[in-house]
Amino acid sequence: MDANPRPKPFHNPNAVIADPLLRWYDRHARDLPWRVGPSERAAGEQADPYRVWLSEIMLQQTTVPHATRYFMAFVERWPTVDALAAAADDEVMAAWAGLGYYARARNLLKCARMVAASGHFPETRDGLRALPGIGAYTSGAVAAIAFGEPVPAVDGNVDRVFARLLALDTDWKTAKKTIADTVATIVPDGRPGEFAEALMDLGATICTPKRPNCLLCPLADHCKALAEGRPVRYPIKAKKAVSPTRRGHAFLLRRDDTILLERRPARGLLGGMLGLPGSEWTEEAPTAPDFPIDAHWNEAGDVRHVFTHFNLVLTVWTAEMDRSPAPGQWHKVDAVEGLPSVFKKAARLALAL
Ligand code: ADE
Repeated sequence: MDANPRPKPFHNPNAVIADPLLRWYDRHARDLPWRVGPSERAAGEQADPYRVWLSEIMLQQTTVPHATRYFMAFVERWPTVDALAAAADDEVMAAWAGLGYYARARNLLKCARMVAASGHFPETRDGLRALPGIGAYTSGAVAAIAFGEPVPAVDGNVDRVFARLLALDTDWKTAKKTIADTVATIVPDGRPGEFAEALMDLGATICTPKRPNCLLCPLADHCKALAEGRPVRYPIKAKKAVSPTRRGHAFLLRRDDTILLERRPARGLLGGMLGLPGSEWTEEAPTAPDFPIDAHWNEAGDVRHVFTHFNLVLTVWTAEMDRSPAPGQWHKVDAVEGLPSVFKKAARLALAL
């Protein structure tokens, strides 16, 4: 008999995956500005809950390189949760512009103010979960990474890794439940935060959506999908419905070195953000533009933007006004940089920037 049999591809990778995963992480952890790496951790350094929380909120909707730029700008300007809590709403919203999902920025501020008022972040998943903008994933990630609570943090990357490890071919809702239950049983008591970070890194660098690098994977011996021969078959999800296209008009009115902007209603898409005046965005055939003032309007062209549930095509119009006073909020042209991406694109086109 073989005295040292190779482990069989596993249906239930409990326990066996934490060790090889953490050994891999010790050598290959990504160096990220909110992270305390394995050697610093081993030397007793702890993660700053403010930085962990802020990074997790930013990473809910964007990639690590994009979030990193915003993260650095935020912590430079507001190095602590108290500093962020004391910031003016408009400044935080403008600094967030470009990250999208502006309700998150409002929740970020609400949360910062609650934490500052209480004096510290709650140190448990359940305590964190009660704060605005913090759901199942983020509460688990912050509790594990910042406070060492042995709880799971399952995001889209972790779902993909486990859908492959377990070769889950049930419907996706059932598969996700299996994954959540499985991960909950294998979080190691000793290094729960690094276990979460290691799974994120594995999903981002090795077990990628289209071309996983199984040759370098520390969990290859435990991966049922690899044993079957085609890991990219997993996760098996129902095809998404095609997004509809909405159309509308946006107006850029210029007067000297200022442009007319308007604050959007607090509720709804891009709620509370500054934007260009314009029409409704609808799926119906485009209507003629209803210009906000009589002027010599020129069509600058179309811009496209992808939102979660629809694609938008905005026709952008531009006009110059004379210096006479006019109602509305006139902002310096530089304010364009602090607009949500869709309006930034439209304004840049109109201003030929
Ligand atoms: N994605 C979400 N959270 C992350 C983190 N803390 N580190 C790296 N990637 C992440």
